[in-house]
This record gives sequence, C-alpha cells and structure tokens, in this order.
Amino acid sequence: MKSILVIGGAGYIGSHVALTFLEAGYEVTVLDNLSSGRQINLFKEARFIHADLQNRHALADVFKDPYDGVIHLAALKAAGESMIVPEKYASQNLNGAVNLLEALSNSQTRIVIFSSSAAVYGLPQYLPLDEQHPLNPINFYGYTKLEIERLLDWFYRLKGIHYASLRYFNAAGYDTKSRVQGLEQNPANLIPVVMEVATGKRDAVEIYGNDYSTPDGTGIRDYIHVSDLAQAHLKAFQYVLAQGESLTVNLGTGTGCSVTEVVEAARKASGKKIKANIVDRRPGDPAELYAKSEMAFKLLDWKPVFSSLDVIVSSTWKIYELHSQKQKPTI
Ligand SMILES: NC(=O)c1ccc[n+]([C@@H]2O[C@H](COP(=O)([O-])OP(=O)(O)OC[C@H]3O[C@@H](n4cnc5c(N)ncnc54)[C@H](O)[C@@H]3O)[C@@H](O)[C@H]2O)c1
Repeated sequence: MKSILVIGGAGYIGSHVALTFLEAGYEVTVLDNLSSGRQINLFKEARFIHADLQNRHALADVFKDPYDGVIHLAALKAAGESMIVPEKYASQNLNGAVNLLEALSNSQTRIVIFSSSAAVYGLPQYLPLDEQHPLNPINFYGYTKLEIERLLDWFYRLKGIHYASLRYFNAAGYDTKSRVQGLEQNPANLIPVVMEVATGKRDAVEIYGNDYSTPDGTGIRDYIHVSDLAQAHLKAFQYVLAQGESLTVNLGTGTGCSVTEVVEAARKASGKKIKANIVDRRPGDPAELYAKSEMAFKLLDWKPVFSSLDVIVSSTWKIYELHSQKQKPTI
C-alpha cells in the first residue's frame, strides 16, 4: 500500500485530497497545525500529526519513516492580506516550503505535489491562460507561489526530488456526498461569502463592478470543483511516480462564470433572496480569468466532472444549510 503525507490536510482542499487518496486505497497521514484547518475535516481512517511546518525538528522526525509522496497544501492564501503583511507570507509560505525541502533532502521521500495558483500569472495578456503565459504575479501571495515553484525545480535538479506544481484556478464546491463539512473561517472567496449571506451570517454580498466588458458586466472566473482538484492530485502523484518526471500544469475548466451567475445559482439552490450590492471595482481585478488546462487533460488523463456551476453551488449549499440548521455557524 502506498503512503502519502498530506500537509494542510485539515484544510478545505487538503481534506478533499485526503479523502480522494483514502478512497483510492492509500495509507494517508495528515500533518496540520490547525491554524485554519478544522478537526472536523480529519478522517478517522487517516493518521493525524498535529505539527507546524515552521518546526524543523518536528519535520525531521516526521520523515524518519519515508512516505511515497507528500502533498503540500499548507499556506496562507489571502492575496489582499499578503500585500499588507508580506513578512507573514514570507515566513509561512516561503520558509515553510524551505523547511519541507530541507526535510525531504534528508529523507528518502522523493515526490512532492504542490498547491500552486493561477496567481503566478498576474494580469492576463491573453486568454485562456496557458502554462506558457508570462509569470508576473501582482500580489505577494502569487510571488510566494512562483518562488516555491522555482525552489522545487532547483531541488529537482540538485536533489532529485520530483514534483508536480498544480496551478489551481478558483477552488469551489464540497464533496457531493457531504463527507467534508468544515466551513472556511473568514472566507474571502465569492462562493462562501454568498453562502454566508444565504445563511444570514452576512447582510449582503459586494459585487466589485458591473461595468466590465463581459456579457452581464460582472467579472468572470474559472471555478473548479474541489473534488476534481483532489482527483488531479492523485493523478499527478501517479504520473510523477510512473514517469519519473516533474511537471507544472494548470487546473481549471477552461470556461468561466460571472459573479451574477454565481449569485443567481446560489439563490436558486438555497431558495434565499441573497442581497447583492454593486460597489467600485477593485484595483488589479481583470474582467475575465480562465485557464487552458489541456496539458493536465493530456498528461494526467484528467477531466473535471463535478465542475458545473450547479454542482459547485448545490454541494456548497448542502454544507452551509447543514450548519445553519445545527445553529452552528462554524465548527
Ligand atoms: N482555495 C483556493 O481557491 C486556492 C486557489 C489556489 C491555490 N490554493 C492553495 O491551496 C492550498 C490549500 O488552500 P485551502 O483553500 O484548502 O486553504 P486552507 O486554509 O483551508 O488550508 C490550509 C491548511 O494548511 C494548514 N497550515 C497552514 N500553515 C501551516 C503550517 N505552518 N504548518 C502546518 N499546517 C499549516 C492550515 O491549518 C489548513 O488546514 C494553499 O496552499 C492555497 O494557497 C487555494
């Protein structure tokens, strides 16, 4: 049985990744400091190590017994906040990755699958964004992801640590069987914010501009269902293991949905009014952003299957409704 360490596996995406590897018959260990991850996201079938990526000694211990692969999802991810406290992002994201690479260098674990982001591209010079698009992050968060991709490539060449850098577009949705139930704390992404309006936790959703050159004037983004993302991690690990090659690929659907379409879909799924206010555009927000993911389709034999807006929104609503019925906004 192959063994996988999921760092950040108590988080939103990491818990779906752990679930996918468990379902595929892997022995799964989750390492998390529970800073934004949730106890409720841990599966009893997986071993749990409560540890921090900042603790180099703890990491050295963790890798005394090698794993067949590591999935590295642990990071801070709020692009706006990264522009105000870059030192926090440098320490958590960059130092965290360096500590992991140091521990891997001293162990026999030789494969790492990394959560990168579309933020490495910056403003689109053309669409859809493919992997050849210039890399020019416009926020410090995106810079940390790009820098970690480069570190991985150096450690591949110098230390033989193979990697897959997976550039996610907008992760959204929940496991359609509702096996992951942790809500994100203080979410900044559109869909959880809309859900918090539907459950009464917020008054209204702010729509940043309705005068873009898009069909309904609101911004368009590529939403990829989190279970599709998780499946891509499994396929990426299997690819790197079988081919002995590293890779960097986009993970998106190739099409986008507008903010208005998302809000409408959430109204339909929840039956709630969901108040939306139009406010000023945010500086740096492009009108449209969507991926070309043909490389992942081809190399990984992967295709999104849960990423329709209806499935994304209805699977998310199921979890938010569950929590609001329990009268527990967060767990
Ligand atoms: N959510 C998205 O749309 C999106 C898009 C692109 C990339 N990403 C990347 O995917 C990854 C996972 O994102 P998410 O949405 O699941 O976020 P999340 O905050 O839910 O998950 C991150 C997890 O890492 C853990 N963690 C953080 N710092 C740690 C540390 N020092 N030591 C141990 N554990 C630590 C947290 O407790 C949490 O469980 C992140 O690296 C993020 O940058 C996310």
